[in-house]
Amino acid sequence: MPLTQYRTTLTQFLIEERRRYPEASGDFNGLILNVALACKSIARATAFGALGGVLGNAGGAGGTINVQGETQKNLDIMSNDAFLHVTEWGGQLAGMVSEEMEDPYQIPHPFPKGKYLLVFDPLDGSSNIDVNVSVGSIFSILRAPDGVQSVSEKDFLQPGVQQLAAGYAIYGPATMLVLTVGNGVNGFTLDPNLGEFILTHPSLQIPPETNEFAINASNSRFWEEPIKRYVNECMAGKTGMRDKDFNMRWIASMVAEAHRILMRGGVFMYPRDYKDPDKPGRLRLLYEANPIGFIMEQAGGKASTGRQSIMAVQPTSLHQRIGLIFGSRNEVERIESYHNAPQKDNLPNPLFNERSLFRGSN
Ligand code: AHG
Ligand code: MN
Ligand code: MN
Repeated sequence: MPLTQYRTTLTQFLIEERRRYPEASGDFNGLILNVALACKSIARATAFGALGGVLGNAGGAGGTINVQGETQKNLDIMSNDAFLHVTEWGGQLAGMVSEEMEDPYQIPHPFPKGKYLLVFDPLDGSSNIDVNVSVGSIFSILRAPDGVQSVSEKDFLQPGVQQLAAGYAIYGPATMLVLTVGNGVNGFTLDPNLGEFILTHPSLQIPPETNEFAINASNSRFWEEPIKRYVNECMAGKTGMRDKDFNMRWIASMVAEAHRILMRGGVFMYPRDYKDPDKPGRLRLLYEANPIGFIMEQAGGKASTGRQSIMAVQPTSLHQRIGLIFGSRNEVERIESYHNAPQKDNLPNPLFNERSLFRGSN
């Protein structure tokens, strides 16, 4: 396809962004372009599917187990290696953290060390890979402490507000890279002939209103009261206090849910719940919640724990899990208000049954 209507490549976009910072060295752009190359290589590996001989669990039938206690897919490991080896050489990074590695990754000799940290989920939704459902990669770029030689956990424990850039790639019918460098959100579609990401979705904005929500409803018995209340009200549809019908979606690939929400609005919830007292939520703060949160907020949406902005949370460990709610601003604010409201006890509470109380406030 000739470059006519769409002709801004990712490289051109980054160079034009950089002109706003005449003192910039180009390292930041170099790093993002290397991440984009890693994503392109993962896109190719996933596109071959069974033909590539890369499906299935790592290390045979039962699979290897990562630090999360989750079975690793072959493509989890290959995608992790792609991120490491396509970015480690460039002199931009002081170290990396990945879902698939327990400890921070040190930039190996002889590569020079740089001033950024890269945090990533190399393959998100990987339980879907064997059934040919969209998966993706998520990344976040932070600044490394000055002069750090060997990175340690504490260097990465930065709240999401300190992210310099965040993005994801989605390997769907088309491969897309969605990126924020803190100046809005832009979407690039991979031209498979050129091997270039082309700007197709400039300045993305999430509609503030929606009638679509996404949650794994099989966990409903473990939900806290505010989430039960919100979902019940959505399910009541036109006959309830929301006065409109809702659709529900669950892909089990957060990247794919985030992308749908970015394109047409919606709200995603993987809230804190009572399922496992050792896991306050399913998703990981540093390489899932924070980068998606940054993108949502830069697109006019919101991302929250239900109690506070995700990006305000001070991380305490690399693989920390957290309750995550994101998407259309009005819905996220409504869910936050339910968390802030006095909690329902076992006694009937007329406040929460008051159909008219919230009518017209959506
Ligand atoms: P990952 O594949 O990186 O471990 O992440 C999977 C996540 C996320 O993508 C998705 O929203 C969620 O796990 C799915 O959870 P359920 O298995 O409870 O549906
Ligand atoms: Mn993930
Ligand atoms: Mn993953």
